[in-house]
Formats: sequence, structure tokens, C-alpha cells
Amino acid sequence: MHDSFLNILKSRRSIRNWINKKIPEEKIIRLVEAARWAPSSCNRQSTKLLFVSDQKGKDLITQVSTGGKGFANLAHTMIIVLSDLRIYNLPYERNLAYIDGALAAQNLLLQAHVEGLGACYLNWALDKPETETVLYKHFNIPKYMVIVGVIPIGYPDESVEIKISERKPLGNFIIRENFINYKGFEYDNF
Ligand SMILES: Cc1cc2nc3c(=O)[nH]c(=O)nc-3n(C[C@H](O)[C@H](O)[C@H](O)COP(=O)(O)O)c2cc1C
Repeated sequence: MHDSFLNILKSRRSIRNWINKKIPEEKIIRLVEAARWAPSSCNRQSTKLLFVSDQKGKDLITQVSTGGKGFANLAHTMIIVLSDLRIYNLPYERNLAYIDGALAAQNLLLQAHVEGLGACYLNWALDKPETETVLYKHFNIPKYMVIVGVIPIGYPDESVEIKISERKPLGNFIIRENFINYKGFEYDNF
């Protein structure tokens, strides 16, 4: 059981090429269900998932996004992951909104994988925050929601080879008890 779950985790890859095929509603519901069961700070469940399949909307998101240029708008659907800030004690809990949204997004990415869908989490690191105003206007996003990230998703184009992103060795992730003997690892390259 542990092994099979690990195998699911290990076989998921970011997918950046899709065929133009609609995602059935029952799959969408299961994606949302997966996101719904993610842990969240104080069980706040602040995440909102905005599903966009309209081409104009997808083009606009890709234009604004810092990641996914040249491919994200070709996905059948793009999901904007949002968090409702009103439920957090601001400003010091602000980051929790992003953590909660990201955990929900990861659940969704894994469910997408077992559904035979392909998705890619996209960079949302705007140099000027006002750049995203156009999206708030276009999608009528309330001001109290923050955009956590964007996920283009659809049926993978099987004819395109999937990029395998290697992982650093396991030992590179583990520190036992404290950092006293830590001198950096071979793969700590920045
Ligand atoms: C926060 C975050 C931002 C990312 N931004 C992009 C992006 O802008 N463009 C892209 O092609 N992939 C993006 N990715 C996907 C990563 O490149 C990918 O997860 C990583 O290379 C590991 O590959 P894998 O997902 O196939 O295991 C992002 C992933 C995360 C978690």
C-alpha cells in the first residue's frame, strides 16, 4: 500500500502538452474533491478554484503569468487557485493563505495524475503586483481573494515526450537531530 502510493507520487510529471479534449465533469468534481480534503490552517478551507476553458480567458492568464509562456493557454482548461484572505488574521497570517492554496493544489495535481490528466503548476511571481489587476477585472475576482497559482490541465498529448525532472539524492533532504555537522551537501547548488 505504501509502495503503491509512492509509485503514484513518483510517476506524476508536469505535463506541458495537451490534446484538445474536454475534461468530463465527473473528473472535474473529483479534482475539486481532492483539493477539498487537503489540510489547511485551522481547517479554514479558504481555497477557491476558478476553472477557465474560454480561450480569451486562458490567453489573458498566460499573458499575465510569469510561467507557462508559449504553452499554458493551449491546455483545455486553466485553473486559477485562489485563497480568500478574509478568514486570516492579517498581516501576520498572510502566508498561510498561500500555503493552504498550495496544499490544495498539490492534492489536485495528484488526483489529475490518477485521472489520466496532465497538469503543470505555474510560477506566479509577478514583479509588479498590479499586473494581475486585469485578471481581477476580467474574471470579476473579489479583491479579498489572492491568486496563489495557476494550473493548466487537460488530456496529455501522448505523442510528445515527457520531460523527466530528476530528483536530488534522498540524503540531500535529510538532516538528523540538528545542523551541527552540516557543511552543505554535494547537490546544494544555488
Ligand atoms: C511553484 C512552482 C512553480 C512552477 N512554475 C513553472 C513554470 O512557470 N513553468 C513550467 O514549465 N513549470 C513550472 N513548474 C513545474 C516545475 O518545473 C516542475 O514541478 C519540476 O521541474 C519538477 O518536475 P515534475 O513536476 O515533472 O516532477 C512549477 C512548479 C512549482 C511547484
